[in-house]
Amino acid sequence: MNDDVSYDLVSRPRRLRSTPAMRRFVAETRVDPSDLILPVFVREGLSEPQPLSSMPGVVQHSMDSLRRAAAEAVELGLGGFMIFGVPETRDAEGSAALDPDGILNRGIRAVREEVGDGVVVMADLCLDEFTDHGHCGVLDARGRVDNDRTLEIYGRMAVAQAEAGAHMLGPSGMMDGQVGVIRAALDAAGHEDVSILAYTAKYSSAFYGPFREAVDSTLTGDRKTYQMDPANRREALLELQTDLAEGADMVMVKPAMSYLDILREIADASPVPVSAYQISGEYAMIEAASANGWIDREAAIRESVLSIKRAGADSILTYYATELAGWLRRENGR
Ligand code: PBG
Repeated sequence: MNDDVSYDLVSRPRRLRSTPAMRRFVAETRVDPSDLILPVFVREGLSEPQPLSSMPGVVQHSMDSLRRAAAEAVELGLGGFMIFGVPETRDAEGSAALDPDGILNRGIRAVREEVGDGVVVMADLCLDEFTDHGHCGVLDARGRVDNDRTLEIYGRMAVAQAEAGAHMLGPSGMMDGQVGVIRAALDAAGHEDVSILAYTAKYSSAFYGPFREAVDSTLTGDRKTYQMDPANRREALLELQTDLAEGADMVMVKPAMSYLDILREIADASPVPVSAYQISGEYAMIEAASANGWIDREAAIRESVLSIKRAGADSILTYYATELAGWLRRENGR
């Protein structure tokens, strides 16, 4: 064996991988706490936070623990705080969504009281948590989700959320025309400066499973008549075009991990900021594999969020937002 063999290579990319300082210096992508949006659940009637078995570490909040989570988000410098409500009673029309004293609107009000403008307070705008059938809209006589009647309700829900104090609304129901109708309703009620984070390319995904526990979902069946088919890429660009034309301030791709190609495509085409949602099933997979000792939990969390940013997301909704921001802050000595 000849041990002083050496080739005259022009390129040796390993040079820039040689030390932690060198790798940090040449890193093309960085995640900052302000990139992160924490999705949270507040459930009516709870006096203590309630753990979720399919999402270890995530809870349904009581009003008090919701306030504490929001204060922590500000303290850690998160970008956004996205609130989902879980009501005690549901009906066919999802009427608790419109009630100023409904759980979600109360949660928004409490969080704004707690944090003021310290973090962008976002509200999920969808009926699935509020309807007894669990669909994202109201049903017609034949049991189909009625697009336009749902839009009318979304418009009123938007105004209720704006009045409760939300800075940004996240319509997640995938009804056609939802961004435009919500924009018009907000403007007509004098809420011109409440912004819209459009769920632009939201796919009908098996990975939403654990979320259904998080919101005590009553859904039977699926959402394939309104959420996008995982087979489709071009259609995401149509959704982008329509959301922009209707006045979306930001757009989103969801889920993240199985849709990084879509995310890249939207990021390349979008003139407005792009977000991606690392959803419940992505979280649950990392937790389950880590709990079994199959992957390194912290490394997997960091890599998964970094890869979403690298694929084109300006911001990331992730249930890891608080924990990850804590790590980032410590290593940056802030
Ligand atoms: C529906 C909604 C869902 C999620 C956010 N909003 C579930 C669905 O579309 O079935 C999923 C979020 C997650 O899985 O983390 N309003």
